[in-house]
Amino acid sequence: MADDINNDNLLERIGKLVSEYKESLSIAQDLIALESLEIKILGRKSELTNILKNIKDLKDPQDKKRVGQEANFAKQTLEKLLSEKKESIKKDYLANVEIKEKLDITLPGTKFETGHIHPVTQMIALCEDIFMKMGFDVYYPNAIDDDYHNFETVNLPPNHPARDSWDTFWTEDDHIAITHTSSMQNRILSSKNPPIRAIVPGRCFRHEATDARHEHTFNQIEGIYVDKGVNLTNMLGVLQEFFSKFYEKEVKVKFTPDFFPFVEPGGMMSLSCILCDGKGCSVCKQTGWLEILGCGMIHPKVLEMANIDPNTYSGFAWGFGVERLIMLKYDINDIRLFYSGNLDFLKQF
Ligand code: FA5
Repeated sequence: MADDINNDNLLERIGKLVSEYKESLSIAQDLIALESLEIKILGRKSELTNILKNIKDLKDPQDKKRVGQEANFAKQTLEKLLSEKKESIKKDYLANVEIKEKLDITLPGTKFETGHIHPVTQMIALCEDIFMKMGFDVYYPNAIDDDYHNFETVNLPPNHPARDSWDTFWTEDDHIAITHTSSMQNRILSSKNPPIRAIVPGRCFRHEATDARHEHTFNQIEGIYVDKGVNLTNMLGVLQEFFSKFYEKEVKVKFTPDFFPFVEPGGMMSLSCILCDGKGCSVCKQTGWLEILGCGMIHPKVLEMANIDPNTYSGFAWGFGVERLIMLKYDINDIRLFYSGNLDFLKQF
């Protein structure tokens, strides 16, 4: 302490320190705040400790005595206040701990949104399941294939006018984003011996304008059944069984002739309207029937190209659009909802 320090100033300073610290102690809320206050008040570098350390340097013994008494009294007062405050904070904490840290195991947990499988993927899995239980194997198509598999092996040679029904995306090296899952017919037929029962779920791509019932990218499920003596009635039986399982209700089916180059006879299969049970509504245009898929008996040329003798074996094939089936199942009026990324729509499944 410098010689010129005025003894009265020191006493005044000690008094101020005590009231400053008392004020700080009164507002300290927790033990952490109290700990840093303790260091500030009584720590090695605190102002009070400094005063106490330097008392010995005061020249006048009377001053030493007065300042010493005052500083020690201040130290004891502050120590007492600190320990009282510590006790009161601990007491408060213990009194409230049951409320503050109470764990109510009956409260609902925090919900984490994890997302879920897309409705189209869910429905494809359901279709696979139904067909597998009926003895069908599952094959997946190449997303990009060649002209030979997408067209030629299903009796659509180059320049055949029916190719126009499948506007497609071509790659620069003359490959095709497949227009239908029939692209797998030849691969499956030529790699197995009859009896052959297979389905092909897969994405198809068409270069066409979209509307409520058409997407440029959609899913089909192809079906193939080849054995001795297979006929059209077998096909209608298999499909009726499938649709009854898929829609969880009894449905009727009917076959109407139509042209596909890879089936003969070929046609459209219709389903009794599952929304009105065949009574007639706006969806089935009051007819009671819904055209749902293309199908028919596999053309002899298609069997021959796969080295299957059409005189010994016969078979049927079909191809339906998965999104359109789901639209009927859940009364969805626009196919574009599936791939719009609209979560309000998707979360319903
Ligand atoms: C075909 O693609 C044939 N390969 C089906 C076939 C297979 C017939 C085997 C005979 C034997 P089509 O182009 O009609 O046929 O399509 C079949 C189904 O795919 C349609 O009934 C429809 O459900 C669905 N589909 C076709 N185009 C679209 C599209 N742009 N958007 C949504 N679904 C479509």
